[in-house]
Amino acid sequence: MKKLVINGGRKLDGSVMLQGSKNSALPILAATVAVGGTSVIHNCPDLTDISATLKILRHLGCRTKREGNTVIVDASGANRFDIPENLMREMRSSIVFLGALLAGFGRGSVTPPGGCEIGLRPIDLHLSSLKRMGVSVDEKNGRLECIAENGVKGGHVRLSFPSVGATENIILAAVRAREETVITNAAREPEIVDLADFLNRCGAQIKGAGQSVIRIRPVKNLVPAEHTIIPDRIVASTFMACAASAGGTVAVNGIVRSHLDSVISVFENAGCGITVSGRELVVRVNRRLSGIRYLKTMPYPGFPTDSQAIVMAMLAKSDGTSVVAEKIFENRFRHVPELAKMGADIRIENGCVAVVRGVEKLHGANVAATDLRGGCALAVAALGADGKTTIGNVFHIDRGCENFETGLAQLGADVKRLQ
Ligand code: EPZ
Repeated sequence: MKKLVINGGRKLDGSVMLQGSKNSALPILAATVAVGGTSVIHNCPDLTDISATLKILRHLGCRTKREGNTVIVDASGANRFDIPENLMREMRSSIVFLGALLAGFGRGSVTPPGGCEIGLRPIDLHLSSLKRMGVSVDEKNGRLECIAENGVKGGHVRLSFPSVGATENIILAAVRAREETVITNAAREPEIVDLADFLNRCGAQIKGAGQSVIRIRPVKNLVPAEHTIIPDRIVASTFMACAASAGGTVAVNGIVRSHLDSVISVFENAGCGITVSGRELVVRVNRRLSGIRYLKTMPYPGFPTDSQAIVMAMLAKSDGTSVVAEKIFENRFRHVPELAKMGADIRIENGCVAVVRGVEKLHGANVAATDLRGGCALAVAALGADGKTTIGNVFHIDRGCENFETGLAQLGADVKRLQ
């Protein structure tokens, strides 16, 4: 079982180049099935979740090729609309293939998806929205058989919560529908904008992505395109938290400032010096951080749930008490008992509020990643801890961070991977 070994207590210094966004790349790769032909996707990180997506594409009859960080998908041979359970279970975002298959074939057969165990993560909003758009959904033997007899109809869909995945599925299902689709209370994340940008490049007519109301005017045909994935804002915040925990000066290159507004203000409140010039963000930390009175996770443009664990880890050693409320997922504090093994003083109240009492020092320990961002949080804490930390279950981190330890080593961290 792979492990990361981190000897903490070294200040970080240097710069890292940001990878492409996992959560943009996954739905965009799925979208290539709806588009057909050969699409070329640049800045596509090399991650296990991306490999799982490519496996699904090949199962569906597509040909895929990776050349560095460019992925080429030839969907002209796509001839299946079913995804087996073992492939669906590898990650949550496999569910966005449903919208893509409905757009491409007028039908899709999937099972409930897998992914990080951070909450119940139902797909009721995906299915009720597709039903409103004229798709019949039948559950048979644990499979969801979804059919749009004469193609997806379209229509007005109001989401009771701005779900990222549901918004992506609706957009995908709507691009080649019979009528216009309007989504209200849509998710506004940059990854939604990136998906819409790719599809628009392919000839789709999507307006309003990034806002709460998205209008999709259907088109008859899509043509494949070349597209560059946006930088990963969550990995940017992860490197920022590493710098904040270890101290030092770290430049994260390739950012989009507007994607990080809520994150930057939290880091500044904790006492980090942040400067942004163009696509480069520099974090400077030369003193103990302060606690943050109250931080809650919110849909974009609020503070991202995916950055909650790493910020909690950096606050574990701050001067003061921080209150962190997780408002998106029910079970996203699984890193807390692991952080406690390193000396963190964190109490969970009502399952969704963590009270972090900053301690003077953290110490190294044997810990295990429980999910992707929780695993990154352990690395953040380890970099600022005294002594050696061994992090097990690194496969969780590999789902979303490309060459994580190489980036950290580049910044001067004492980190190695045990195979
Ligand atoms: C996406 O997940 C991301 N994953 C997650 O990133 C991210 O944490 C999340 O959005 C929120 O920003 C990908 O993009 C691949 P949601 P998604 O649908 O689409 C509930 C990471 O670490 N809900 O916006 O699954 C749901 O249970 C990952 O990179 C329903 O109740 O998130 C959750 O409480 C983890 N019914 C909330 O909404 C539904 O039908 C937000 O989920 C759908 C969602």
